[in-house]
Amino acid sequence: MSQHRTIVVGIAGGIAAYKAVSVVRAFVLQGHSVHVVATDAALRFIGKPTLEAISRNPVHSDLYEGVAEVRHVAIGQSADLIVIAPATANTIAKLATGLADDLLGNAVLASTAPLVIAPAMHTEMWNNPATVANIATLRSRGVTIVGPGSGRLTGSDTGPGRMSEPDEIVEAATAVLATEGRDSGSGTVGDLAGKRVVISAGGTREPLDPVRFLGNRSSGKQGVALATAAGARGASVTLIGANLEVAVPDGLRRTINVGTTLELQEAMDEAAREADLVIMAAAVADYRPTEVRQGKIRKEETGDTLTLELVKNPDILAGLVATRSGNQLIVGFAAETEPDDDRLLEIGRAKLVRKGCDFLVINRVGWQEGFAVDDNRVLVLDRGGDIVAEAAGSKMSVADRILDVVAGT
Ligand code: C5P
Repeated sequence: MSQHRTIVVGIAGGIAAYKAVSVVRAFVLQGHSVHVVATDAALRFIGKPTLEAISRNPVHSDLYEGVAEVRHVAIGQSADLIVIAPATANTIAKLATGLADDLLGNAVLASTAPLVIAPAMHTEMWNNPATVANIATLRSRGVTIVGPGSGRLTGSDTGPGRMSEPDEIVEAATAVLATEGRDSGSGTVGDLAGKRVVISAGGTREPLDPVRFLGNRSSGKQGVALATAAGARGASVTLIGANLEVAVPDGLRRTINVGTTLELQEAMDEAAREADLVIMAAAVADYRPTEVRQGKIRKEETGDTLTLELVKNPDILAGLVATRSGNQLIVGFAAETEPDDDRLLEIGRAKLVRKGCDFLVINRVGWQEGFAVDDNRVLVLDRGGDIVAEAAGSKMSVADRILDVVAGT
């Protein structure tokens, strides 16, 4: 989808350069095209092959390479956003004066894209009046300054100057990208800017004893894709992950991990209080054992059959609908094994009425579909039971289609 943009990540020569790898990776996982421009000094701290592997693009550092294609201008012109992390005192000084004695300086000057910088240096350098003045100049030109944080520096000293953590930089950069709306035509860029979105993902597990649980095969891929896509569209996202079996991108800073349905309920109730949009993508265990045994259930005690008594879990989604306030939108999921399309739709419509949510995303699950695979196929129903979207493909593209509908409300 066209909200995936071209981001130039500039890396200057500071020890924090190693953390730039996580910044690059998070942008790539968000689906952006990432081009790294490293200074010569940066490449003394971090290897080009690492950056090329992670960014999936060639890394440029030499002003006198690619001259025929006027690379320094092309890089700057192609950027929807430039992020410099770490930005050293030297690089900051050059940016403030408009110096272009290396590829990064040229690319920045040749670009009209928003600029986000994450300073990193020793406290004395950060507090030096020259740096203070340079930062003020950059701020006055609309440059977004992320951090620096205060904490342990390279040596044994501590204080302000430590580069912000990669997820903070990514979140700030994503917000800039969204609000700047350097649109390439879809109208979806930043359509969730300023919105607080809470998404549950994964599957709850109910312990029987210290070593066993009742659970389901949900990996959390679709929910994490929704959270990633919402973040890329400018939302401030809280992901509540139930036993996720998929990596959470660095950019999703607010992730709360839960295990059981009751833990999920508590986390959702709390997070949803302030949310504009709530998406319950998690597969929730409908029942839990009445009793959780403190010791392992042993075959010797149970014999050839074992009867478990289960008690119904609360319906978190229905509870969220019942207690919501204001204009909060709530989206539910229905994972069903029904093979017949018409019957699947009927089941979905009945569920929509029972839950009372604004949208219901229906997907078929089975031994081979739905759970733990990379692709998905869904139908989205609105409150009236009408099909408002159909999507098939990667879970990321399905996530975007779902958000197209929800964000358009
Ligand atoms: O009733 P069913 O489990 O099919 O409903 C699915 C939807 O309801 C999903 O959005 C799921 O996250 C949510 N749910 C819930 N609490 C439950 C069961 C399901 O919030 N106990």
